Amino acid sequence: MEPACMVDPTTLHSQLIAHAASLKEQSLQSLFDSDPQRVATLILEAAGLVLDVSKQRIDQRALELMIARFEALEVDFAINEMFSGALINRTEGRAVLHTALRDHNSVGDAETKSAIAQSQRASDTLANQIRSAERTGATGRPLRAIVHIGIGGSDLGPRLMADALRYFRDPRMTLRFVANVDPADINDALHGLDPETTLVVMVSKSFGTQETLLNANVAREWLASALGPEAAGKHMVAVSANTEAARAYGIAPEAILGFGDYIGGRFSLWSAVSFSLSVAFGPEVMARLRAGAAMLDHHFRSAPPSQNIVWLKAITDIWNRNYLGYSTRAVVPYAKALALLPQYLQQLEMESNGKSCKADGTALDMRTAAVVWGAEGSNAQHAFFQHLHQSPDVTPVDLIGVMKDRENNPHSTQVLQANMLAQAQALMLGQQDSMDRHRHFSGDRPSTLLFVEDLDPEALGALIALHEHKVYLEALYWGINAFDQFGVELGKQLAKHTLSSLQSEDEATGAHHDPSTQWHLGRLRSARGSA
Ligand code: F6P
Repeated sequence: MEPACMVDPTTLHSQLIAHAASLKEQSLQSLFDSDPQRVATLILEAAGLVLDVSKQRIDQRALELMIARFEALEVDFAINEMFSGALINRTEGRAVLHTALRDHNSVGDAETKSAIAQSQRASDTLANQIRSAERTGATGRPLRAIVHIGIGGSDLGPRLMADALRYFRDPRMTLRFVANVDPADINDALHGLDPETTLVVMVSKSFGTQETLLNANVAREWLASALGPEAAGKHMVAVSANTEAARAYGIAPEAILGFGDYIGGRFSLWSAVSFSLSVAFGPEVMARLRAGAAMLDHHFRSAPPSQNIVWLKAITDIWNRNYLGYSTRAVVPYAKALALLPQYLQQLEMESNGKSCKADGTALDMRTAAVVWGAEGSNAQHAFFQHLHQSPDVTPVDLIGVMKDRENNPHSTQVLQANMLAQAQALMLGQQDSMDRHRHFSGDRPSTLLFVEDLDPEALGALIALHEHKVYLEALYWGINAFDQFGVELGKQLAKHTLSSLQSEDEATGAHHDPSTQWHLGRLRSARGSA
């Protein structure tokens, strides 16, 4: 057979399809039986993470073909382009430099390097001033409650970190998050707080997001009605790439933290977007997070594909999506601290790669991002695991665990870990019962085990960076731009028109909506009238 590396991407794609068809005929157990090296080659460790894809329906040949196709697509060049600051987000004419936030030296351009260092310094200085009470609220009391207002990438990363790094929280600080425009969200967040000791942190890359601006208005009024409009300003910080708009909104210039437009929203947690955490946890915790991510970046760039956890994760997920035809992937963190990981990954993966056209604007002929869904284990075992084990639809599962027990309860931790391992075994081995279909488990259901050695800031940084780079590799495989998100725009525009129809008293205003929407608008108007 011709060496895989000499072949073009289309031929390799056909070879992968053929190989997948033959692998589908084999049980997962037989893949272990036929390859004594399977555990050694399909379990990799890096940057405090252990990745085990040995229970996936994949083998050496599949890995080689996938790596060859990646090479034929010249992904090395594209990876270097990202790290060096080339304008790889071509549809928006932007560089993609979240990696430079973790290692300033990775980017060549001196101006960008110094802008990043300056923005980090400004965020750390302000955080330290608040923590030390050098900067206080309007009445001189220390600011000890942080209300972080933002949505999407301006929310999910910081919120995940706040949960995951629970053991590093400064006990003096209260940290709450508001994302939803549902007024219940901001009301809950402000409930019980003292305006004199509360800092509101508005986070929006664009500074034009409806939900964030509306919630910030409510918070500002809440502050102003207790402290007066002038004093309210001392209790607000804005984080944005659009510092002009933040100034126009009325935030004091010294309370605005900027970052470059080369930081994508869903990749922005490494920037001042996580300022609330710098205040609540301390800037040094954020520095450790970035250091962990930088370690993973180094591994990604230096380890050969077959020994690289990013490559192995990307290959497995692409293989499942494009060659085995699985349209969803469940993510089940066996750690309360990582309960928000599935939501975080939903945005990272689906907003980045849920696309139907290539970066050059031509139509795609491959499926792209799988639907990511999931919830924390072991709770999830009592919710959707029935489906995972016995539904005719097979769903690959990522089971994510933590090795070190930080709760000082070795027994419960071992029960949790045993459950995680047991589920992966049950999914793979199944249980034959030819007499009773109800109790029959087909098995042969693929899963990935991912262990974090210790859930400290470094490991969390590495875990997130692993998924970020996986998303980039997938995008390169599919030929798409992972860094724009035009798909979210239409709904936003229609919401504006729909709001003016809803608010109008004139029934005819909504006539341009479809009949179902018109019906609901009428119903909502009359419910409002009768309230
Ligand atoms: O609606 C999608 C989106 O643009 C995300 O990409 C982004 O993370 C989120 O909205 C919030 O945007 P911003 O930070 O500009 O408020």
